Amino acid sequence: MPVHLRAEPGDYAENVLVPGDPRRARYIAETFFEGAKLVNEERGMLGYTGTYKGKPVSVQTSGMGCPSAAIVTEELVQLGAKNLLRVGTCGGYNREMQLGDLVIATAATPQDGTVLSLTQGVPYSPAADFKLVHAAFHAAEAAGRKTFLGPIVSGDLFYDPTEDPGAQWSGLGVLAVEMEAAAIFTIAAMKGVSAGCLLTVSDTIGKEEVVRISDEDLKRGVDEMMELALDTL
Ligand code: ADE
Repeated sequence: MPVHLRAEPGDYAENVLVPGDPRRARYIAETFFEGAKLVNEERGMLGYTGTYKGKPVSVQTSGMGCPSAAIVTEELVQLGAKNLLRVGTCGGYNREMQLGDLVIATAATPQDGTVLSLTQGVPYSPAADFKLVHAAFHAAEAAGRKTFLGPIVSGDLFYDPTEDPGAQWSGLGVLAVEMEAAAIFTIAAMKGVSAGCLLTVSDTIGKEEVVRISDEDLKRGVDEMMELALDTL
């Protein structure tokens, strides 16, 4: 039994949604799963297993930031997970983005210490699994969702003290910032499993001022993203 996910092999499905927020994990299980069963509550890192359209599926909280996400990814793989799909929120750097828009990450630049430690300083480009990106893109197209598909950055800081943190990234074509995907992609690659990442834009950065989404609009965006994520898996 791993240290933080107090579960046994078989308690999790091979397909796992990975949100940062424990309450979102519970919401996903209660709203979208049939027969949801709590499989982990150690440290409040809630995990559930149930079925979606008759197929086994799990949801497991990653916590915030790459160090926490790395622990959870490692232990999910120990417990038999094969496809990990992070579902979260991001700060949008792209000028065309609106609050609530969907981002499908193709790669996540590691602007964090965890991936650097894992690769021992070797330059490395954590990428999403093509099958998951492909499936997510087609699910989004079929649902008529406007989609931003491309690279993101996983940072160590939510409260970034630099004056215009998005300027350099958007100049490099980076769509958005979040805080977990690079570690999840890296560990998935090291362990030979698949990982992807779908995000809802919760704030836009680099326009006149940072604008944050309302709770109601965030719920709507996240609900739509969850159905896509579950269809993707
Ligand atoms: N997740 C949502 N918004 C974010 C931001 N501005 N920075 C980092 N992670 C985020």
